Amino acid sequence: MKHLIDPTDFTKEEIDEIIEYGEYIIANRELFRDKLRYHKLATLFYEPSTRTRLSFTSAMMELGGNVLGFSDARSSSVAKGESVGDTALTVGNFVDVIAMRHPLEGAPYVASKVSKVPIINAGDGSHAHPTQTLTDLLTIKRELGHIDNITIGFCGDLRFGRTVHSLIKALSRYKGIDIVLISPDEMRLPDYIKSDVCDKLGLRYKEVRSIEEVIGELDVLYMTRVQKERFLDEDEFERVKDSFVLDCEKLKGAKPDMAILHPLPRVNEIRQEVDADPRAAYFRQVENGKFVRMSLICKLLEWKDDPSHSMPAHPEYFHDPGRHCRNTKCICNHENVTPLFHETESGIVRCVYCDSKV
Ligand code: NCD
Repeated sequence: MKHLIDPTDFTKEEIDEIIEYGEYIIANRELFRDKLRYHKLATLFYEPSTRTRLSFTSAMMELGGNVLGFSDARSSSVAKGESVGDTALTVGNFVDVIAMRHPLEGAPYVASKVSKVPIINAGDGSHAHPTQTLTDLLTIKRELGHIDNITIGFCGDLRFGRTVHSLIKALSRYKGIDIVLISPDEMRLPDYIKSDVCDKLGLRYKEVRSIEEVIGELDVLYMTRVQKERFLDEDEFERVKDSFVLDCEKLKGAKPDMAILHPLPRVNEIRQEVDADPRAAYFRQVENGKFVRMSLICKLLEWKDDPSHSMPAHPEYFHDPGRHCRNTKCICNHENVTPLFHETESGIVRCVYCDSKV
């Protein structure tokens, strides 16, 4: 069975198929009204969300299906101490597919290990957000006409921004991608993405400190919010919170067809005056999120019993009582799951659930 926990769970061909099917849905919406009649999706959201949860709901409704779930785990048996795995096993009796958002990294992965139905990771801590990645890829394709051969600047909180981590992983599969990382030192991209994704797969990247010095080179500018809720040190957050603000003045140096993306919500990193600029694609991006989730749900159900669409083979996982994952936000430090590790090609041992170095 196919789950979507991390963008690399899908081959490039599978990603392209989902993007293309999303475009087909956009052009033929009326054909999809009853496509998933009598099917059900559960949205299990243990963390706040507007766009992701509502776009899953709207996607399933537009396919003629139904949706159930919770958006506040305190109103479910989680409040009684039920584990993520037990919740997924239970809910799998009621629905055909589950979308889960969780503040603990690796929680959807744990659910996927026991679930009878496909699990979609709708965001786990600072770790991954693969359906936002599909949204971003569809948006880039629709705005620029192609995904290969682009220079994309990621600006803001590259440390905690899970959408950035997942999009970089997915882009590593495309040709001719140049990445520009724009952030202060406190919010730089985690090393594991730089070493295991960029360096290993030959993705070109450079790190800079201001938007102005690179804006003229970019085909896509991907803005992000500073992830206040993930900072352990409040002073540090206060220091960096207003690091980057995009306004019309800065845009004067940009290409006329550069696309501005943002997973949203925005706080103050894009001035409202920018919304009227034709290059501001972030609200079109929201709509693309619904179409790509329609496509994803259809494809996961289609691929469910097809052995040619199984999960990729992973490197060997091992348990070592002498090692501990030190990430306080990893599911393995909160629930009764066996700590598991894997060794990367460069010899670094990482936690299977959250990818942090151990
Ligand atoms: C993002 C998320 O939840 O990671 N939002 C989203 O899903 N559209 C980005 C964010 O919260 O900053």
